[in-house]
Amino acid sequence: MSETELTATPPAEGAVTDLAEIETNALALIAAARSLEDLDEAAREATGRRSRYSAVYQRLGSLSASERKELGRELHELRARIETAASAKRTELALAARSERMAADLMDLTEAPAGGLAGHLHLVTQVREELEDVFVGMGYEIAEGPEIETAWYNFEALNVPVDHPARSAVDTFFVDCGEPDQVLLRTQTSPVQIHLLERGRLPIYAVVPGRVYRRDTPDATHLPVFHQIEGLVVDQGVSFGDLAGTIDTFIHAIFGADVRTRLRPAYFPFTEPSAEFEISCTICGGSGCRTCAQTGWIELGGCGMVHPAVFEATGVDAEEWTGFAFGFGIDRLAIMRHGIADLRYLVENDARFLQQF
Ligand code: DAH
Repeated sequence: MSETELTATPPAEGAVTDLAEIETNALALIAAARSLEDLDEAAREATGRRSRYSAVYQRLGSLSASERKELGRELHELRARIETAASAKRTELALAARSERMAADLMDLTEAPAGGLAGHLHLVTQVREELEDVFVGMGYEIAEGPEIETAWYNFEALNVPVDHPARSAVDTFFVDCGEPDQVLLRTQTSPVQIHLLERGRLPIYAVVPGRVYRRDTPDATHLPVFHQIEGLVVDQGVSFGDLAGTIDTFIHAIFGADVRTRLRPAYFPFTEPSAEFEISCTICGGSGCRTCAQTGWIELGGCGMVHPAVFEATGVDAEEWTGFAFGFGIDRLAIMRHGIADLRYLVENDARFLQQF
């Protein structure tokens, strides 16, 4: 073996000294890392391709078998210690980052921020409560009914024929329960009329606010989940004039004295005669604009005298009792009153919107 070869192969002693230094440096770099990027960098410097560790590793091939075995084991153990230190540091950094994130996200819920955004009822809830107050003032009770209904309550008992388009799966969310197409999310609050009539306690003066569901794609004028309020009055000698006066009264209570109301003939299976009630457009005041399609009027809901078939389905004597009913969308009424262009704002949970009401 020549001189040159001997010097090219440093004694194992020297390598071991190197290793101690390599380890000290590597552990110092790892300990100093302040971020995951620092840590990756430290790992590259400690054991990467251009590292001193790698240089020592490359010497292995030129050592004698016993030296190679010895140094190989040392290198292996060194690497394991560096990796253990790096992975402990990684956990530590990840935990620190997490608590930093949590501290940044922390909200103090014990106090409204200065000048602040204290929580309040949603606009739709506010309008619902106003409507309830108006009707309670007229002597009505507030009633409720189930959101999951059978087809009988939602359609049949309301005199909606089996082939009526409203009954199709295009409009209705059916619930996979019992007989097919018999259990559904109510598409209107009108089925609560049936529950009220079934109670058998007459007369009835009731309003029923609640959520209803239709298979509509959300757009400016539709939401798949929205709110209606239903009214039902059943008494002796109730007239269409009473209905018209009731609608006029609550519209003025909600929209103010300047708004005009009108009824237009319409068709609903559960009332006869039926009408749609409209208010003078709240955007243009009745002169005609895009919102009211230049008509000056906005349709709010439907109403009419309770159909004898509805009385019959619920065992109420139609000779003795007469009644009227009405129903309309609360969300729609809310956006009309406040000049909001799009129903979807109501459900987007944007504080900048909600804060205004
Ligand atoms: N339920 C009807 C709808 O969702 C609204 C309605 C019309 C309710 C006429 C009534 C009524 O009580 O008499 O379109």
